[in-house]
Amino acid sequence: MDEHQHGHGHGHGHQEWDDRYGDEPMWSGRPNEALVREVSDLRPGTALDVGCGEGGDAVWLAQQGWRVTGIDVSGRALERAARAADAVGVAVEWQHLGLEDLPADATYDLVSVFYPALLRGDGSVVAALLGAVAPGGTLLVVHHAFVDRARALEHGFDPDDYVGHADLVAALDTALDAGGWTVERAGQVERAPVEGPGVHHHTDEVLRARRSG
Ligand SMILES: C[S@@+](CC[C@H](N)C(=O)[O-])C[C@H]1O[C@@H](n2cnc3c(N)ncnc32)[C@H](O)[C@@H]1O
Repeated sequence: MDEHQHGHGHGHGHQEWDDRYGDEPMWSGRPNEALVREVSDLRPGTALDVGCGEGGDAVWLAQQGWRVTGIDVSGRALERAARAADAVGVAVEWQHLGLEDLPADATYDLVSVFYPALLRGDGSVVAALLGAVAPGGTLLVVHHAFVDRARALEHGFDPDDYVGHADLVAALDTALDAGGWTVERAGQVERAPVEGPGVHHHTDEVLRARRSG
């Protein structure tokens, strides 16, 4: 979804994300333009939106005919997401869990991850993202490019602690050697400016990769 606000922090536990979501909607509710662009040529199947937040992207995918599961650590965001789905009459399976708690054998035709806040940890998070893509399926991950580390540190988090675009490109490079993936897009894309505090982010780092069938 298009963000209305950023710089509010990343990752951390369930309670911290609930606190960040606060009492007012944080995001615009509109689907992210990179999602619309990258997914429109795919045949709808099953989709997993990791860190789906208030559900704008998941709801849009469901409206396009995808059977969507949205997962997030914030119950508060998920309540808003469920209301957004109800408001337009689409069904999405909302699950209150972190990527690390996703069943290891669950796979999807599309795994969509927008502005993730996933702690790098021991590398299992990257493996979980790749592992959640079904044979023939697509992984779509979008990060903000040019994260200002000093500014982030002032806000209490270190971007280096989180899974970034480069981590995924590196993991896919390894997997490519094994013949498992085709990287269809990996690079920066300008996007239309958004209103509000997120206005300082206008370049996305887009990674789209297809798992061999
Ligand atoms: C920066 S927000 C992005 C939300 C949404 N994807 C969007 O584009 O607007 C990051 C989201 O990831 C969620 N999150 C944080 N850690 C997570 C984890 N380990 N697994 C799943 N979601 C997580 C947060 O609650 C938050 O909703």
